[in-house]
Amino acid sequence: MQKLPNSLAKKIEKRKLDKSFRILDTASGLIDFTSNDYLGFSQNENLFSKTFQLLLTENIAQNGATGSRLLSGNHKLYENLEPLLANFYKADDALVFNSGYDANMGFFSAVPQRGDCIFYDEFIHASIREGIRMSNAKGYHFSHNNIESLKEKIETNTSQLGEDGNIYVVTESVFSMDGDTPDLKALAAFTKTNSYHLIVDEAHAVGAHGTNGNGIIPQLKLEKKVFARIITFGKAYGCHGAAILGSSELKDYLVNFAKSFIYTTALTPHTLATIITAHKFYEQSGKEEVTRLKNNIVYFKNELKTQGLQEHFILSDAAIQSCIIKGIGKAKAVADKLMDKGFGVKAILSPTVPEGQERLRFCIHSYNSKEELGLVLKLLSKYI
Ligand SMILES: Cc1ncc(COP(=O)(O)O)c(C=O)c1O
Repeated sequence: MQKLPNSLAKKIEKRKLDKSFRILDTASGLIDFTSNDYLGFSQNENLFSKTFQLLLTENIAQNGATGSRLLSGNHKLYENLEPLLANFYKADDALVFNSGYDANMGFFSAVPQRGDCIFYDEFIHASIREGIRMSNAKGYHFSHNNIESLKEKIETNTSQLGEDGNIYVVTESVFSMDGDTPDLKALAAFTKTNSYHLIVDEAHAVGAHGTNGNGIIPQLKLEKKVFARIITFGKAYGCHGAAILGSSELKDYLVNFAKSFIYTTALTPHTLATIITAHKFYEQSGKEEVTRLKNNIVYFKNELKTQGLQEHFILSDAAIQSCIIKGIGKAKAVADKLMDKGFGVKAILSPTVPEGQERLRFCIHSYNSKEELGLVLKLLSKYI
């Protein structure tokens, strides 16, 4: 094998010295406070067998998609799924991508043009950052969940706007590392008044928020004020893939210009059947699971108070509850101790989060028992 170039080997060495070297581990059998499988759908045997039933009913005996959706890969399950999504999420249309990463890369590299400006929350997901980096528009971040900072950044940088330049504002409805939510009503009012385009990534809201778990934008009745939403199927749906929700014109545009949509093999019929089955289950009896999840979040937050841990946690009403433990070594040590007791809680380290903001991220699920929720916090209070 050829050796890694020296410059890359040095980067690895540095990671090891900083104790932030990432490895793939297959730890299993731990009580799950790590996965994004908020409603337990990935393990649901009923969904597993219903997926096969759907493939049989549709007379589909095909393993791979065989090509891009623009060539041979646009099998009929895509045409079944997209209208279901548009209807449930109260959008004009939906376009399925292979993953949330692909959806964000595709959208941000294709939609904002030279002469446009993109203003994004400083804690925005890496896939959005990468998409913006590939775009010809100029990107500026504003302070986390801070509309005043957004206004200030726009004011300072309007000279960068081209003639007919558009302004895009990007945020998440539940932040993936903090679990908190911006003031979306105020943000939408501001962007609407100024004819800016608001994009909201709802990856972590779908499943846990909204009347039937259909996200925060429909819950706040802001659908008409948002230009595009990103939803993903790898989290509460327990599957894989993503969709962009928006107008039919936006869908047409993305089909024609989003490279991560065009130049890739489509998802397999089995993946689409899994998403459709999860979606239907979710529409019909999702409420019960969503309620269980919401109750567990409330229980966890009450236990935080009881254990006197509140000051360590970032304020969040979502399934993501983060406990700040400064320092890579310290955050890792607490995660290891919890693992020894059978709890799978991941330490999130810099550079994924800013230095000094290292944390344990607790992902709450509908299937966590009250005992598990209580005990993990009891142990945490002992270890920190
Ligand atoms: C906010 C947000 N957007 C997009 C993604 C990417 O989604 P996917 O895992 O489907 O690529 C993630 C994944 O962690 C996320 O947290």
